[in-house]
Amino acid sequence: MTKKKIILLGATGSVGVQALDVIAAHPEQFELVGFAFGKNIEKAREIIQAFSPKIVVAAQESSQVTLAKAFPDVELHVGNEGLITLARTEGYDILLNAIVGSVGLPPTIEAVQLGRDIALANKETLVVAGYTIMAEAARTGSKILPVDSEHAAIFQVLQGVAKSDVRSLTITASGGSFRDKTHEELVDVTLEDALAHPNWTMGAKITLDSATMVNKGLEVIEAHHLFGIPYDDIHVVLHRESVVHSMVTLKDGAVLAQLGATDMREPIQYALSYPRHLTMHHETPFDLTEIGALHFEKMDLVRFPMLDLAYRVGKLGGGYPAVYNAANEIANQAFQDGKITFLEIEQLITRAVFEHMEFDGQTLHQILASDERTRQKVSQWVEDLTQEKKIALTEVRK
Ligand SMILES: NC(=O)c1ccc[n+]([C@@H]2O[C@H](COP(=O)([O-])OP(=O)(O)OC[C@H]3O[C@@H](n4cnc5c(N)ncnc54)[C@H](OP(=O)(O)O)[C@@H]3O)[C@@H](O)[C@H]2O)c1
Repeated sequence: MTKKKIILLGATGSVGVQALDVIAAHPEQFELVGFAFGKNIEKAREIIQAFSPKIVVAAQESSQVTLAKAFPDVELHVGNEGLITLARTEGYDILLNAIVGSVGLPPTIEAVQLGRDIALANKETLVVAGYTIMAEAARTGSKILPVDSEHAAIFQVLQGVAKSDVRSLTITASGGSFRDKTHEELVDVTLEDALAHPNWTMGAKITLDSATMVNKGLEVIEAHHLFGIPYDDIHVVLHRESVVHSMVTLKDGAVLAQLGATDMREPIQYALSYPRHLTMHHETPFDLTEIGALHFEKMDLVRFPMLDLAYRVGKLGGGYPAVYNAANEIANQAFQDGKITFLEIEQLITRAVFEHMEFDGQTLHQILASDERTRQKVSQWVEDLTQEKKIALTEVRK
């Protein structure tokens, strides 16, 4: 049997490490031929020792130099150029993009243009350039296989279903760490509070995005691109148990859902093994009689304004989703760095979206320029806020 050769972007992260588990559990099916990582050189070292990949990309030059000395047989590259080189490498079957943020976009576009299959965890990529990626994938025959659990659920449910028979999609949302707080109660929440997700263990950025509900907003836009369904037919419901991963309503009223444990290895493995469902080794127990009851509530778009805004930017199209995403990436990091408050995240995103103006259909080039301008603007606003707070503190101390 020929093994599926895998390139993994973001191998040292939450999705990346779980993908390595899946690859290691099926040595007869999968082989890691290359990977990229950010700063975690110790983890990268372990991965090279365990999987003997041919090519590795580090975000920083110092890591590249260190690893080149330790592993002279491995082809090493660095930075964004290195990610493109990795995407262009010959002899792989699927690129699993588990990098966080829109830095994952250029290698995805490169791989799609070469007709390579993509297992996509990096939702930011589709939010920024969904139309381009899906159009290129249709042109080259590249398959875009979703890894996000909600989209993987919809994708599984849609196997064998004609798109013209679909009435609507329903994405489930756990509600994140602050689902039981009112908007007013968010004034002084901390990073530690925000990172305590009730159901999933994930990287810091997506966990914080779940608390602001930006994550669900990004997922709505991602679903629009992946499945070609209009925004008005994509619904979000609050589902505390995260057992139903998402649902599809067909034109005859039948509702098809995919259920399972909160274990990201399931959607990762399916994206890699598609169209097969392989045995899941060390499966997370899943027993509906233990869970007992499932609850579904309407989403309150006033309580969760970032979800409301995501629908608006999605419908506006052009550079708006990229602006929403770029503002969020900067604001999310600024909150993690202790520079702004939790509620300032949504204030900065809202301001960036409302200040953005465009008059024509946007090319990818224009969208990326809007993305870059937004990053600069929002970074400046973060600095201004930091200065204002320092001045206010000095006044108080006087
Ligand atoms: N975690 C989940 O359960 C989950 C579920 C659904 C979707 N997703 C999506 O999957 C993506 C990854 O999420 P995550 O939670 O796995 O994030 P994470 O734990 O923060 O991992 C991010 C990965 O990206 C790498 N990275 C960051 N900047 C890089 C750069 N410039 N060049 C190369 N690698 C870089 C990091 O490397 P270092 O750690 O070495 O710095 C790390 O390997 C996100 O788009 C997220 O929305 C995640």
